[in-house]
Amino acid sequence: MLHKFLTLLRNFATNTSNTVTTNQMIKDKVIAAYEKMAVKYDELIDHKPHNAYYDRPNTLALLPDVKGKNILDAACGPGKYAEILIAQGAKVLGYDISPKMVELAIKRNQNQAEFYVHDLSTPFKTIGNETYDIVLCALALHYLEDWAPAIIEFNRVLKKDGILVISIEHPFNDFNFFKSKKYFEIEQVKCTWKGFGEAIEVNSYRRSLSECLTPLTENGFYIDKLVEPKPTKEFENADPRHFKELNEFPAFLCVRAVKRNH
Ligand SMILES: C[S@@+](CC[C@H](N)C(=O)[O-])C[C@H]1O[C@@H](n2cnc3c(N)ncnc32)[C@H](O)[C@@H]1O
Repeated sequence: MLHKFLTLLRNFATNTSNTVTTNQMIKDKVIAAYEKMAVKYDELIDHKPHNAYYDRPNTLALLPDVKGKNILDAACGPGKYAEILIAQGAKVLGYDISPKMVELAIKRNQNQAEFYVHDLSTPFKTIGNETYDIVLCALALHYLEDWAPAIIEFNRVLKKDGILVISIEHPFNDFNFFKSKKYFEIEQVKCTWKGFGEAIEVNSYRRSLSECLTPLTENGFYIDKLVEPKPTKEFENADPRHFKELNEFPAFLCVRAVKRNH
């Protein structure tokens, strides 16, 4: 009996430490991929159709008037969102796990905002409770296997009635794209991006729709608006083939969640 219990305990410990090691390996690969593509990403971000004419207009449309608001840009990339929000009168603090992206965000925004290296799966140690009006997290949560620690932190740093806006890979699109046979599982997936210079392997996690929404609703938010975005007119001129595809099936999902008053 004792032997069986000890074996179970040992297996549990081994499995847990294997998961931690695998997660760290994936994280290291994500960092390496973004370090490699950062300069090209920054060069293209102003007009890259999926960002400029699909993700950004639909995600920004979920924000309230940002003039005078404190915004935390979580996974800020090269600071394009920050640039737009600062121009609209917001005060922005940005974080990203890629040091190169942070460097480019600082360069793009000169002295108008602060940007730091930070891993979203760990707490924002220097940010107090209820400091921000808005948290924005665009196209980044799919790099985390477990969203709960990040969402709990977003909730903690948001003021009463604060707003969280996220954009994510659409779960149905990911299910098709990665030819998954296990809809309900969170699966580690990878693909090759060719749009940012040399081909780069990008690792991430795909999950079901409920695995995208319950981390929000179980960690202090209610869902206020959910958008399956359509590309803008500019997209059609820039890339007619993907314009047609995105009008037939969504690639991203944009969500506005509001901090619940318990
Ligand atoms: C597709 S880019 C989006 C950048 C920016 N939000 C935008 O939409 O322009 C994804 C970003 O997430 C960052 N990222 C990936 N995993 C992260 C993590 N665990 N913590 C913080 N940032 C992360 C990457 O370095 C990259 O800059």
